[in-house]
Amino acid sequence: MSTASWFGPALLPWYREQQRPLPWRQTRDPYHIWLSEVILQQTRVDQGTAYWHRFVERFPTVADLAGASEDEVLRLWQGLGYYSRARNLRTAAQQVVNEHGGRFPAGHAALLGLKGVGDYTASAIASICFGIPEPVVDGNVFRVLARVFGMATPIDSTEGRKQFRTLAGELLDRKHPGDHNQAVMELGATVCIPRNPRCGECPLARKCIARAEDRIAELPVKSGKTKVRTRHFNYLLIEAKGGIHLRKRTGKDIWQGLWELPLIETEKTMSARSFPAMLRKELGAGWTIKDPHGPVKHVLSHQVIQAMFWKAVPPAEHRAPLDWKVVELKAVDQHGLPRLIERYLAAHAGSGRP
Ligand code: ADE
Repeated sequence: MSTASWFGPALLPWYREQQRPLPWRQTRDPYHIWLSEVILQQTRVDQGTAYWHRFVERFPTVADLAGASEDEVLRLWQGLGYYSRARNLRTAAQQVVNEHGGRFPAGHAALLGLKGVGDYTASAIASICFGIPEPVVDGNVFRVLARVFGMATPIDSTEGRKQFRTLAGELLDRKHPGDHNQAVMELGATVCIPRNPRCGECPLARKCIARAEDRIAELPVKSGKTKVRTRHFNYLLIEAKGGIHLRKRTGKDIWQGLWELPLIETEKTMSARSFPAMLRKELGAGWTIKDPHGPVKHVLSHQVIQAMFWKAVPPAEHRAPLDWKVVELKAVDQHGLPRLIERYLAAHAGSGRP
């Protein structure tokens, strides 16, 4: 692949004029940049900015984040999904404090040693904060490069990732790696968008192969081999003295560390007819159920959850499992909950949550 010497000189002036004024662009503080990059892996800039402010206000320094409880970090993260990122955020902050004297390490390799920091985040911090020439490759970068250079290698293949990273490295402006990397991402986020890109505003339009060959809609290519698993959840809304039962998710699974209603996972979506027998098998005889709600479809990156919600009344002699906890309705929002649960409770448990 030949290096396109026109790429940086066309892109950088555009970025310097047209970039969005984002709060973390006023600083080179690696803690603030790191937070922004981790949040932006989960959501778009408009929603992410609010989360970034919440984190920076609640945890002004990396030491404050390191000293926080996991529950509190999860609560601030609530709604962004992929909660292992939030747990890793806290662990990495503790590493920065304990292993690096409270300062982010300035090298790509050392940054990779922080929990949850992969090539993307390490390259972003290294280039933006420390001026180290490491190319950043995220979804926006894949799209821009695939279109401008007409690259049809699937971006979700090992070969594709290698090719795109190599090209990104060849294109990188080694004097201004931070601005260069952000410029490519910014172009992908604001101009070279997935559908109906604004080619009229693009500084690279004259060189763009996808545009010249009318292949914009085809690029980037995905092989689409990522498997999505469908799961069937049955949540129980069980009133207890002074509140409802919640339990904390543990184990290596989605939503680890978050709170949810007591759950019975099944092979299929349960109906009002099939669920009582299942409930008896799982929790014993004597339960009554009412007001089934669902199935509610909840889409995650690699899983689709089909959730049924049931109001359930236990038999008088029922003893709650040890990992259930009675939480007053007004205290429910002090617990980090998946959005799926939060929405159901807001509509059905009269908790007054938004
Ligand atoms: N998306 C994620 N990080 C970004 C950045 N630093 N600039 C532009 N878009 C981004």
